[in-house]
Amino acid sequence: MHQDIQSVLFQEDRIRTRVKELGVAMTRDLAGRDVVLLALLKGSVVFFADLLRAIDLQLKVDFAWVSSYGSATVSSGTVTLKVFPDEDFSGKTVVVVDDILDTGRTLASVVKKLREERKAADVRTAVLLDKAARRVVPLKADYVGFPVDDVFVVGYGLDYSDRYRNLPYIGVLRAGCYSATPESS
Ligand code: IMP
Ligand code: MG
Repeated sequence: MHQDIQSVLFQEDRIRTRVKELGVAMTRDLAGRDVVLLALLKGSVVFFADLLRAIDLQLKVDFAWVSSYGSATVSSGTVTLKVFPDEDFSGKTVVVVDDILDTGRTLASVVKKLREERKAADVRTAVLLDKAARRVVPLKADYVGFPVDDVFVVGYGLDYSDRYRNLPYIGVLRAGCYSATPESS
């Protein structure tokens, strides 16, 4: 697995430090609110597990599974909701947590659904990585770990064709490791 990585962008200790900082900021900003931390599967699971332990507040967790990738590295443009909480979030502050903000289609559609259909009082967004150069839907996340250039990255939950999620760091895949492969999320 490690030999497939061309370069490491964020090492484990750097990610750990940054996630703790995000947790401190969220603890400060969200104090006194009824908070639900909503993880977008599958990519955010590693970030989510670390982030939620860095937030020193009473909160609940929930999960949604949304897919926007038609092939392994190219977004299909259509967001498919595979699993979504059917709860009413009125009175709640829902923080949507994703691994990476790319075109913005995934987060935008989830935020819209939470506001319009699930009646959330407030919806915030937290992403580990922000690939601003690729944005199609104008959207700024409330909490961002690191900005990244327009390169395809894997590790710390991020996948290529559902693999490499278990790398403890975030890196760029070698060119030879890409191929036409089926859908991922
Ligand atoms: P968006 O809807 O285009 O913003 O796509 C967000 C989703 O695309 C993320 O949740 C990831 O699953 C996936 N994605 C986007 N860029 C990358 C990348 O560089 N590596 C791995 N997954 C990515
Ligand atoms: Mg993915």
